[in-house]
Amino acid sequence: MVEEKEITVNIKKYDGKNDPYWKTYKVRADRYTQMTEVLRRIKTEQDPALAYRASCHMAVCGSCAMKINGFPRLACRTMAFDVMDENNEINLEAMDYYKGIRDLIPDIDTFYDRMYKVMPRLYADESVIAGENEQRMTPSEQKEVWKFQECIWCGLCVSACPSVRMDEKFLGPAAHAKGYRFIADGRDTKTEERINILMDSAWRCTSCYMCYEVCPQDVQPVIAIKKTKSYLNEYKGNTEVTEMARKHDDTVFDLINNTGKIKESTLYLKTFGFGEAIKDINYMRKEGKLKYALAKDNDVKNIDEIKKIMGDKK
Ligand code: SF4
Ligand code: SF4
Ligand code: FES
Repeated sequence: MVEEKEITVNIKKYDGKNDPYWKTYKVRADRYTQMTEVLRRIKTEQDPALAYRASCHMAVCGSCAMKINGFPRLACRTMAFDVMDENNEINLEAMDYYKGIRDLIPDIDTFYDRMYKVMPRLYADESVIAGENEQRMTPSEQKEVWKFQECIWCGLCVSACPSVRMDEKFLGPAAHAKGYRFIADGRDTKTEERINILMDSAWRCTSCYMCYEVCPQDVQPVIAIKKTKSYLNEYKGNTEVTEMARKHDDTVFDLINNTGKIKESTLYLKTFGFGEAIKDINYMRKEGKLKYALAKDNDVKNIDEIKKIMGDKK
């Protein structure tokens, strides 16, 4: 006999006009009960007006993304018993960042807009489309794109990304994962165009790893962003951000080549310039963190060995 418990589910309700409010429901659940099943029971047995999205119930369609106890998750991939607290309580809210439509349903048009900006499909060679040729992927190419093509467009990473909120020119984690997936695919004919679309945006990511943390598919968008940055030499444009990126790249190379270390204070100074550094020094002084920036950093020995590993700058 599987043990059942009564759980308390608090849902942040929203009618599309008035301020959201919390409503509480009691539901019976056991250790096999997914959060989408909890919602289905509430809707069918207690509140037919409850609005939420779910379709596949198996982490494929991406529609049941929401905040569960404040953390962005897929409801169908979350077991009620795994998230309830010591009082058997669970809080459900719509994802952050997106405009609310009703209850747990956000308007994710902005997510789709970002995805379509990176041309999220393969553009094969004309001869392949005409059926005159075939293009195969090598196993290593397949391995490189595998993780990034697993995205189910759930929108959780975008809802959790601080850079998306702060910087409207940043395309967001999921679009970057998708964009890099095609940059790394040797069958695609739009590599240059993709690098042009993605490069400035890639350097707007703060590498906070929230997208890595919340993605239910382990897509690791931040890794796709780091890999995209490595195409900087192939990027022919020049923006304020990519100019800073080039300085950053050159300084990292020179520091490792000459001292064997990335000396953060020198890196910052050479990347952002004296004016920005002064502002930050003031901030760090106020926060009591200046001592960390000024800590003595000894050079490593055997620097010639490091120079051999680093090779030519290009
Ligand atoms: S690592 Fe970059 S893309 Fe990911 S959440 Fe942080 S800022 Fe956003
Ligand atoms: S990268 Fe992960 S979190 Fe982001 S939309 Fe795709 S599956 Fe969802
Ligand atoms: S219902 Fe499809 S991903 Fe959860």
